[in-house]
Amino acid sequence: MAYQLLPGMFDIVPHDASEPWRNSSLWQYVEVKMREIARVYGYREIRTPILERTELFLRSVGETSDIVSKEMYTFQDKGDRSLTLRPEGTAPVIRAVVEGRLHQDPASQKLFYIGPMFRYDRPQAGRYRQHHQFGAEAIGDDSPEQDAEMIDLVYSLYRTLGLNNLSIQLNSIGDEETRQNYRKALQDFLRPHYDRLSADSKLRFEGNPLRILDSKDPTDRAICVQAPSILQSLNSSCRDHFEAVKRLLRALRIPFDENSSLVRGLDYYNRTVFEVVSGQLGAQNSIGGGGRYDGLFKQLGGPDLPTVGFATGIERVIQTMLKQETPFPSQRGPQVFLIALGEACREWAFQILHDLRRAGVAAQMDFSNRKLGKVMGLASQIQAEYVLVLGENEKATGRAELKEMATGSKQSVQLSDLAGMFESDD
Ligand code: HAM
Repeated sequence: MAYQLLPGMFDIVPHDASEPWRNSSLWQYVEVKMREIARVYGYREIRTPILERTELFLRSVGETSDIVSKEMYTFQDKGDRSLTLRPEGTAPVIRAVVEGRLHQDPASQKLFYIGPMFRYDRPQAGRYRQHHQFGAEAIGDDSPEQDAEMIDLVYSLYRTLGLNNLSIQLNSIGDEETRQNYRKALQDFLRPHYDRLSADSKLRFEGNPLRILDSKDPTDRAICVQAPSILQSLNSSCRDHFEAVKRLLRALRIPFDENSSLVRGLDYYNRTVFEVVSGQLGAQNSIGGGGRYDGLFKQLGGPDLPTVGFATGIERVIQTMLKQETPFPSQRGPQVFLIALGEACREWAFQILHDLRRAGVAAQMDFSNRKLGKVMGLASQIQAEYVLVLGENEKATGRAELKEMATGSKQSVQLSDLAGMFESDD
């Protein structure tokens, strides 16, 4: 084929039987639920450009992170600026808030977004070079309730969508002081095992040893089982904050597992971090994640405001729903399908089609002039609920037979009353 999709990218299409997660009706359904939950929790939509200056991600996600060091789509534009296709949504949102001073408006302090993100990673099941996220960010609130609200929001979303068997992994990575102390304790613990560490972990040993806890390498994992827990390095204010978050989650009956080796792959986090994992997703098992990132707002040029957020991958949400056989609403075909018999009736039928649509009825008509049997077959393929055949006789009497496709039953209808017979599909 002359033109093909880029590796790790995919089309979202009206219908694909072999890869149903790409069906656009599922995306629409899930996105409607995401918008609904955002509204109920008081989050308003923000849309930022897909392109940003590369510097934004270097400063926020962090130069030592995998995302920045290996996975960014970066290029020079004609103005010789280094630009990057956004690999995530948090840094662009905070850039937009700082730049537009949105934090001064109480209506703009809780924001959500839905959109594509780009990471040049090795494609595999559940991992794409263009994926889509629903995310939310709350600006200006450092209370544990705000952390718990984020986890509650994402957990409610999953519950509304009918997902089950998810586990919320929760940790606190404390503040800068905590991490300084812990980094040293972790390096001291790892040093005797240094030679057995994987090549990646050796690279991280100096710059970002916490990420070694996150390694998928079996030897690294075996070594890290005995590693000291970051929770032991928390100072009292971080510990109190973490205890309060856990208490709030218990009060809301949100189950979670404390996991002291959860560090997340982006450098901006502090205090609470969390990840929701699904047993059904195989290696790419993280369906959503987030946490607090209190230093970022100031780092990007704003006042020192606390921030917390999360994002969930829409592909992974839909794939998990399908694996768990979660019901989706069935996709409706047109409510009525018109077939005009003969040239003389086409224009008249076309007007009826227009009137039905103006009245909010989902109507379609065959424009092809093919044989009646063929067109009937087409109407059934696109799951038309009713079919109306319009010929000379119907035009003269103003009445026609409305055929219900599921049962084959017919009823005679007055064409002037037709629109009123269907509930509007708005
Ligand atoms: P993240 O964990 O890097 O966090 O990504 C969030 C979610 O996006 C993941 O849990 C996963 O479901 C999905 N995802 C990530 N990469 C891919 C990929 N290559 N293919 C398919 N799905 C993927 C963030 O991006 C943070 N900005 C979240 C956040 C918001 N933290 C605070 N606020």
